[in-house]
Order: sequence, then structure tokens, then C-alpha cells
Amino acid sequence: MCGIVGCIGKKEAQPYLISGLHRLEYRGYDSAGIVTISNDNKATLLRAKGKVSSLESLIGKNTSKDTIGIGHTRWATHGEPSETNAHPHQSGNVYLVHNGIIENYKELKTSLKDHVFKSQTDTEVLAALVNSFYNNDTELVDAVTQALQLVVGTYGIAVVSARNPDEIIVARSGSPLIIGIGDDETYIASDASALIGYTTQAIYLNDGEIAVCRRDGVKLRDLAAQPISAQVETIEIDMQAIQKQGYDHFLLKEICEQPVTLRSTLSGRVNVEDELVKLGGLNLTVEEIRDIEHVTIIGCGTAYYAGLLGSYYLEQLVDGLTVDVAMASELRYRSFHLPKKTVALVISQSGETADTLACLRELKRRGVKTLGIIIAVGSTIAREVDGGVYVHAGPEISVASTKAFTSQAVTITMFGVQIAQAKGSGAKDVAKFIKELDQLPNEIEAVINNYKDRIADLAKRYAHYEHAIFFGRDTLYPVALEGALKLKEISYIQAEGFAAGELKHGPIALVDDTFFEVALILDNWLFDKSLSGLAEVNARGGHIIAITNSKKQIDAEEVLVIDTKLDLLAPLVLNVAQQLFAYYVTVAKGFDVDQPRNLAKSVTVE
Ligand code: AGP
Ligand code: GLU
Repeated sequence: MCGIVGCIGKKEAQPYLISGLHRLEYRGYDSAGIVTISNDNKATLLRAKGKVSSLESLIGKNTSKDTIGIGHTRWATHGEPSETNAHPHQSGNVYLVHNGIIENYKELKTSLKDHVFKSQTDTEVLAALVNSFYNNDTELVDAVTQALQLVVGTYGIAVVSARNPDEIIVARSGSPLIIGIGDDETYIASDASALIGYTTQAIYLNDGEIAVCRRDGVKLRDLAAQPISAQVETIEIDMQAIQKQGYDHFLLKEICEQPVTLRSTLSGRVNVEDELVKLGGLNLTVEEIRDIEHVTIIGCGTAYYAGLLGSYYLEQLVDGLTVDVAMASELRYRSFHLPKKTVALVISQSGETADTLACLRELKRRGVKTLGIIIAVGSTIAREVDGGVYVHAGPEISVASTKAFTSQAVTITMFGVQIAQAKGSGAKDVAKFIKELDQLPNEIEAVINNYKDRIADLAKRYAHYEHAIFFGRDTLYPVALEGALKLKEISYIQAEGFAAGELKHGPIALVDDTFFEVALILDNWLFDKSLSGLAEVNARGGHIIAITNSKKQIDAEEVLVIDTKLDLLAPLVLNVAQQLFAYYVTVAKGFDVDQPRNLAKSVTVE
């Protein structure tokens, strides 16, 4: 994951490069750099450790009028975050930025004797390799093509040469790149958010494609240097979607906009009057849906937890359906076996997660029908699945995923309803699920409006703890995992989620005064069982915050009763309280809410 930008046109390049890097900074922020090329073949290279703002402070004394340039914001894989390891990397007249991992960089490096290596990165090796083919009578695109034919690994790259201020070469294999088509100007970006306001026409580069980007247009070729045609598409994101709109942080905006984004996820798909759900884009006939006997769900991080929650709903909705959920980073290396009539749900917000993409490709190789449940339109996973559903939740900028979790779990539930309807038998609770799906946006809105301040106060009082345990039973178990991930990844409190029934099998040994516990409890058939888990922790001096929809007596240090009419989907309502809790703990600790340390939004490396 990282952010790549580039432009070639009539206007000065630096402003676009900096603006684009700011928009892509959520993809990685260990260091940043830009290079522009003048018409008299001079390169202005600026690089800085840390965020784009550090790079921006260098511009003042180094303003250039150049109209061609490339830029990069890094998430380090090889070599610490530093100015030396920051991209663009140079070799001779070649300047290169890269997203991905060159797996054979050590072997390639041994053959590059003419280059004096300065950085610890794999990327500098690629820059030197390109330059090794780039002599006086070689076109830059041919040098890049020859170099990439020797590369093993993943890349999205942009390359310029001080010898030629009239073209940018881009190429991709495994890391996303989009080419924006303007009026006598061409833009490059890792995702569409950096193109908004500049152009609505874009070419989504595919793996194995190389492009020569000039002011007057783009020419594509494959790795064998054979020309290929370019498909220009219209970008559907608007400016508002990538701005904070008055919120202090993208995370709070994305938590609070869930009622709106959820209504968009449900819109045109759930018909309460007719008690029907209709998901377009599955590319499955009613017969094929009816014949589904097994669903396998894959994802990473929050997407995996959304899949885990969705799996409970699929089992509740469709009698006899078997479901398994796998972390993509594990499944891709397992010798797994799937039943014949299996459909795979591929869950991903960014649609670019390398582990998830690798699993998708393995499932397709095995002939398994794959359906994407994705946010990012036009993303790699969205383009490679056999069918699927865009969850219509709009771009998610904050590294911590919130609205995606809710919309993904809801979409899996809608898919379960659709299977139940197709099978027309053994489908319990279908009408109740449909009713609750329809009510869910309002119920989430009520949590945000009625409990935000109470949760902010609670968060301040628990922000000083070093450790936390989240636990819940049944559908609250995936929610406990998600609550722990939210808290740990932005507040750096060491937080773990457990199935409540598992506490007594070991984790309860952790309980001491450096811990607080979040107990998730539903007023349902498991209520009494849940209380016993609470009692065990209380008996050992726990500092429990109970988050519940029950008005019954609960013995805990704090009890946050969320008044909701939902039952089956109540876990998604309680989860919003967890999201707000993690947000306010982080604000209280003064940490970077949207760009937490060591992380990036889209994990496009393995
Ligand atoms: C969630 O808050 C994290 N940012 C991370 O676990 C994320 O969910 C995971 O990397 C999967 O990303 P994806 O949905 O874009 O595939
Ligand atoms: N592997 C390269 C590096 O460590 C690129 C990392 C990225 O994708 O940002 O610099």
C-alpha cells in the first residue's frame, strides 16, 4: 500500500502532486517525495520522512514551473521510514516510484554493478534495473519493459526521465494504478480519489499492462511490448465523499454517516412490503442461487470480522446451508477443500488487499464461483470476481474501517435472505430479518444521536488503561473481535476480543487492574449465560463496561444500555457504540485518529 501520483500537462505539476499525495496519504505515510522534470532536462527531486506536510514544507525554496512530475507517499516494506528510503528513487536519468514488493530484488541487485546503492529499498533496485537498459538509443518505455520482464513480485510504478520531459511510463502487476484523461493533460493515481476535480475519465490499468502517458494521450502495451487497447471509464466518486465535511476526523464522519451509507447499501435491494431482497450483479440465476449448498467467506481484518458476523446470519436464514469463514492470509497457503456447490464471498473495502486478491485468484483457478462484497468501485478485486455487490458506502478514508463493516455484514445478510427466498423452504426469520434491515439505519442513527456524549465521557475515563478485553457470545463474538481491533489500531491500547465462553479457558488469567473489559450482552436466549461470564470476571476484580440492549440488572462497573427495538441485528447497533468508544479514547489520548502509526488503509503488499 502506498500512494502514487503523476501528471503531465500544461500546468505546473507540483501543486497537483502535493494535492494528490494529501488525498492518498491514508494509503501510507512513512515518507513522501516528488520529482518534476524541466523542459531543459533538469530534475527537481524533493523527499522527506513523515507525512506529506513535511514534504510540502520543502516546496517553498524549491518551487518549479515544470509541467511533468511523479510523487509517492510510502508504507515501508524494505528499509525503515527515512528520507534516504523515500521515493522517488533515482538511477542516472531515471526516477521511479513504486507500490508493492520486488521479491527478487537481492538477486537483481547483484547484477547492477554500475549503480551506487544509497537506500535499503527493493524499489531502488528496480530504478537501477530500468536505468541499466536505458541507454542513448533506447526509449524509456522499452527500458521499463525489459526491466519488468526480469521482476518477480508486485508493482505499481510510475517512471520519468530527465532526458525526456514529455512522457511518464506507468505499469502494474498486483498494485493498483489509474490513468486520468484530461484536456491535453494526463494524470496518474493509485486510486480515483486523487483524480476528483481534475477529470472524470479514467483508464484502470490491468496487471501486465504498461502505459506511455503523454499530454496528448495514452498508449498501452503488454509486457511483450505488443500494443493493447485502452478502455476509458467514468469515475463515480464526488468531491464531498473525500472531504471531512465539518467533522474533526474522517473516522467520526464515517461513523456518523453510517445511517446514510447504510440506506444507500439497502436502497433498491430490500422491499419490506413485498418481503423481498434483490441483489443485482450476482451474475447467478435463481436456480444457481437455489443450488448453493456451501458458502465460504474470505477477508482480512475488519472485512474478515464482517464475514464472521455474516456467517451467523447466513446459517440462521438458510436451513442446511453450511458456511465457513477464513482469514485470506491463512487460506491462501492452506490445502483447503470445498464442497461442489460452493459460492465464495470475497469481502474487501478497498478491493486491493493482496492476501484477499491472492485467495480470489486461487478460488477462481479451482472453478469456485466468486462474489465480491466491495466498497471501492473499479478496484482490482471488484474487476476480477465473477459477480458481486458494491455496498455503495462511499470511499472510506480513515484507516480504521467502520461503515464498511456495517455495510458488508448487512450485504451478506441480504445475500442470505436471497438464498432463503430462492430455496423457498426452511427459511426461518426471513420476514424478521427484512424488517430489521429496513429499521437498522434509524436504529444506528439513534445510537449516534442519543449516546455519543455518554460514550465520549466513558472513553475519557478508560483511556488511561494499558489493556482491554472485549467479549461476547454468538453474533456478539465477531463484534467483540471488531471492537478490540478498532480500539487497538487507533489508541494502541493492547486489546483482544474473545468468545465469552472462552474466557474461563485461559484469558481470564489476564484480568488485573491494568485491564478493563467490554462485555457485549444481548437481551436474548443467551442473557443468563452472558451474566455468568460477567460474574467470573467481576469475581477477579474486573473493570467491566457492559454494552447491552437489555434493561435487566447487570452487575458491572459501567452499564451502557442501548435502547434499540432490534433483536437479530442488534449486534450491529451495539457495534456503533464500540466504534465511538474507540474514537473518543484515541481523541483523549491525543493520537492520530485517521492515520495511526505503522498502518495504511489498503494493504496491497503481503
Ligand atoms: C480495519 O480497521 C483495518 N484497517 C484492516 O484490518 C482492514 O479491515 C483490512 O486491511 C482489510 O482491508 P480491506 O477491507 O480493504 O480488504
Ligand atoms: N517496497 C517498497 C518500499 O519499501 C514500496 C512500499 C510501498 O508500497 O509503499 O519502499
